[in-house]
Amino acid sequence: MKKKIIIMLLMLLSITIVWSQTYLDPNASIEARVSDLLSRMTLDEKCGQMLQAEKNALNQGDLANYCIGSILSGASSTAEPNNTASDWADMYDNFQQDALNGRLGIPVIYGVDAVHGFGNVYGSTVFPHNIGLGAARDPDLMEQIGTVTAREVAATGVDWTFGPCLTVPRDERWGRTYEGFGEDPEIGEMLAQKYILGFQGTTLQGGEKITATAKHWIADGGTTNGIDQGNTVCTEAVLRQIHLPPYIPALNAGVGTAMISFSSWNGTKCHEYSYLINEMLKNEFGFKGFVISDYNGIQQLSGTYSDQIRKSINAGIDMLMEPNSWQSCISNLRTLVNNGQIPQSRIDDAVSRILRVKFKLGLFENPYANRNLLNTVGSAAHRAVAREAVRKSLVLLKNENVLPLSGNSGSIFVAGKNADNMGNQCGAWTISWQGESGDITPGTTILEGIRETVTGARVTYNQSGSGAAGHDVAIVVIGETPYAEGRGYDTDLSLTQDDISVLNNVYSAHIPVIVVLVSGRPMIVTNQIDNWDGFVAAWLPGTEGRGVADVLFGDYDFTGKLPCTWPRTMSQIPINVGDSSYDPLFAYNYGLSCSASTPAPTGTTGPGDVNNDGSIDIVDALLIAQYYVDLNPPNFDISRADTNCNGNIDIVDALLIAQYYVGLIEKFC
Ligand code: GLC
Repeated sequence: MKKKIIIMLLMLLSITIVWSQTYLDPNASIEARVSDLLSRMTLDEKCGQMLQAEKNALNQGDLANYCIGSILSGASSTAEPNNTASDWADMYDNFQQDALNGRLGIPVIYGVDAVHGFGNVYGSTVFPHNIGLGAARDPDLMEQIGTVTAREVAATGVDWTFGPCLTVPRDERWGRTYEGFGEDPEIGEMLAQKYILGFQGTTLQGGEKITATAKHWIADGGTTNGIDQGNTVCTEAVLRQIHLPPYIPALNAGVGTAMISFSSWNGTKCHEYSYLINEMLKNEFGFKGFVISDYNGIQQLSGTYSDQIRKSINAGIDMLMEPNSWQSCISNLRTLVNNGQIPQSRIDDAVSRILRVKFKLGLFENPYANRNLLNTVGSAAHRAVAREAVRKSLVLLKNENVLPLSGNSGSIFVAGKNADNMGNQCGAWTISWQGESGDITPGTTILEGIRETVTGARVTYNQSGSGAAGHDVAIVVIGETPYAEGRGYDTDLSLTQDDISVLNNVYSAHIPVIVVLVSGRPMIVTNQIDNWDGFVAAWLPGTEGRGVADVLFGDYDFTGKLPCTWPRTMSQIPINVGDSSYDPLFAYNYGLSCSASTPAPTGTTGPGDVNNDGSIDIVDALLIAQYYVDLNPPNFDISRADTNCNGNIDIVDALLIAQYYVGLIEKFC
């Protein structure tokens, strides 16, 4: 009896303790938990929560002793070893255990750049980079991609991805062009909400969801000359018209965090721009998550380190990504509060925002890796989603009656540096920050995909292009090698001499040539394209290269549309849809399908001759009019209908043909 009384008393005591520590009560409201925990925290602990440290810059005990709020794996900072997702889960759980040893047991939130799947992890599913997903323009697919990525991240314990990047790239010289969905904000607007829904779900709970990041706030893609971390010069009206729209659906989806851009707006660094962060993001648009700086981003501000911290925190940044200087940052932060240069209320607001995300993620109840998901990382089901994304990302830009190919017979010659190179087809943010060529992670190269797809045809591969003679067709896979951020800045987007020599080797065989361009942006192909019978923009497809063969050989048709204008020359850049003078090689939103790209007979007059009868007359105008009113006529070559090259097919195109026919105008766009 005595024993029972003691047990009951102990149970009563434990309930009383939990009850008195509301923040540990999962049934309490999030706001009650936040305010209870905040009231228990010292200034040092609050300052610690506002820091994000690089995992390689931490010693055992640091997380607990400094109450550090977050850890990141910078884009090359992988688990060691990085052989499987469980290596990451072991690493994560060790860090989390350290954090929970802290006085108040506040779990740490771990962030990574899972920007096209969790590319850091060896064996994970790597999706096309955003420019390819922009070409696909498929919101439902984005939700699937977000869901798969969240699962593969949550399996490792990691709670947070620094994505999606909602930049609107306006100058292809920028090395981060491929991180955006496209040059027109309409694409990011179309895809952001579902992508974030995939990452976060509606409640952030359930162990398979992670918090996302709307980045980089704001106008990072609009800098003069496409200079990375440069200066965007534009009116507020243009900023709101071009660079803001993709963020609205992200905020409506309840994105958990936002990351500030390194760049400046009209000469002022975004990292100290109170109007952009406090006024626009938090007050006008009601952002309730927390704002994080970019990697050492505050250190680009003028003044001492203390000045940089003061300006950025007072501008509205809540967490500082100070990977290696986190200790000094905490110390400066504490001093700035004690001397009144940062109001206590600002600190309490920032910490409340951070704790709110942690409570919403369920970190206090489930702080460790969800190891039940480990077997989903890189699974066939996940890779099937990525393969679908590859198919839908491809844009057919030229087809002189050569696609789709038949794989049943004959002989196919494959060439080019990007045909059989996993690293090149994944691009950066894969295993390492800058990515690298070679066999860097499991997957299917484009060549392997071709070999798996063809049934009877003979496939020969020679990277140099030599030996093409005698084959029925050549597929030449060329383009760019991996780069990230500033290292990708390029004032000459012409094909490399190596790629041109591969093409020349193939041309000498006098067989049909299909070029597949693997690149993070359009390249200048104007002087080469007339030698090509087919031309496909494949962007940076990721691990599932077979998606390219699926479409080349007709299992699926091309559906992708250009997410960016394709320049004729470098001197045209920047060139964007809507420009007053607009004469690109291919217009924004252009894209053929095999079903609609019938052969162009000799003598055809190109744009306007939509029925391919070699003349431009009123019949062509009527066909476009019929198409526009949705009476889809037969034998209609859509690729010749956009006579004003604005990316749309409408009545204006029909009227231009009529004007041309009666001699009022002499040429189209
Ligand atoms: C980088 C990038 C940012 C990334 C962060 C963490 O510098 O600007 O997009 O999320 O650092 O790797």
